[in-house]
Amino acid sequence: MVVKMNLHLILLVSVFSCLFIASCQAVTDDEATRQWNIFLERTEKSYRSPVEASRRFAIFKENLQKIENHNVLFDQGIVTYKMGVTKFADLTKEEFLLYVNKFKLSRKPNPSRNIFKANPNLKEADEIDWRDYGAVTYVKDQGQCESCWAFSATGALEGQAALLLGKQLVLSEQNLVDCATEEYGNYGCKGGLMDGAFEYVRLHGIASEDDYPYTATDSNCKQKGSVFNISSYVDVQQDEQSLRQAVVEIGPISVGINATDELQHYISGILIDKTCTDQPNHGVLVVGYSSEGGKDYWIIKNSWGDYWGEKGYFNLIRNENACGIATMASYPTI
Ligand SMILES: *[C@@H]1O[C@H](CO)[C@@H](O)[C@H](O)[C@H]1NC(C)=O
Ligand SMILES: *[C@@H]1O[C@H](CO)[C@@H](O)[C@H](O)[C@H]1NC(C)=O
Repeated sequence: MVVKMNLHLILLVSVFSCLFIASCQAVTDDEATRQWNIFLERTEKSYRSPVEASRRFAIFKENLQKIENHNVLFDQGIVTYKMGVTKFADLTKEEFLLYVNKFKLSRKPNPSRNIFKANPNLKEADEIDWRDYGAVTYVKDQGQCESCWAFSATGALEGQAALLLGKQLVLSEQNLVDCATEEYGNYGCKGGLMDGAFEYVRLHGIASEDDYPYTATDSNCKQKGSVFNISSYVDVQQDEQSLRQAVVEIGPISVGINATDELQHYISGILIDKTCTDQPNHGVLVVGYSSEGGKDYWIIKNSWGDYWGEKGYFNLIRNENACGIATMASYPTI
């Protein structure tokens, strides 16, 4: 007999099973130490004092417990994404929130006059993943600089260079951080917008990553020449149907989302974030979409390196404008 329990009851039951049946075990010091050493090796982190190191270890251990408890719910099918150790595993939730809350995308000073609107008569593919078409470069890392907007923009530019010109280019975020500044509505390592970046590239082109490497700091514009030029850029109408058609017809699309602490320990599955708003604060790149287990999702490239998410990517629930994903989508045109 199938007993239908409501979600609260299921959650209650699983909390009890955690406490009493020990289906989620307490993380031991040995286990925490083993994982801590892997974490330190992978991140190459070091702390300024032994006191700080042991404080960080304590936070790490607490996070491990949170991850284990969450994954019990994941295994029972109660939550849709899995947690694991990421490069943010030594931060408290508050510290991680400080990090994501520094992102700024709220102004829109360079809206495009061109709008991409879904054609309701078109039937799009059920799924697409532009990584399978060589249109997406490796996952990059913005570091301690709120330059997500620049990474989102280069992602869309790289996609168009690959799909329209057959050029496998890796483009420079530092070029945008240093050169696409206030007059484009951007503030380097203090935030910016993808359309501001596109407006700059429309006027000045963009250098390659090799010619203008990333330093994660604000400095003077040093652009010499351009490896990719665009003629304009287009804003996608603010609905997911239009976004979906744009992804199929155009390629990887720059979007903003409201990033919250739900992302801190994400490593796989479909993110359903009940706490995010539809006001974006973080620029990322939609590289495709798909469905699994009756749930539709977007496939998104982030700029937090590959020691986070699914090798740097995450899946976000689709068709509910989750975290404002359809609010500021745009792409360049050549
Ligand atoms: C982009 O435009 C600039 C200025 O017009 C030009 O010097 C450069 O060669 C162009 N680059 C490419 C790759 O077309
Ligand atoms: C986005 O989410 C954060 C939580 O990370 C929240 O504090 C912030 O106000 C949200 N941003 C906007 C613009 O709504």
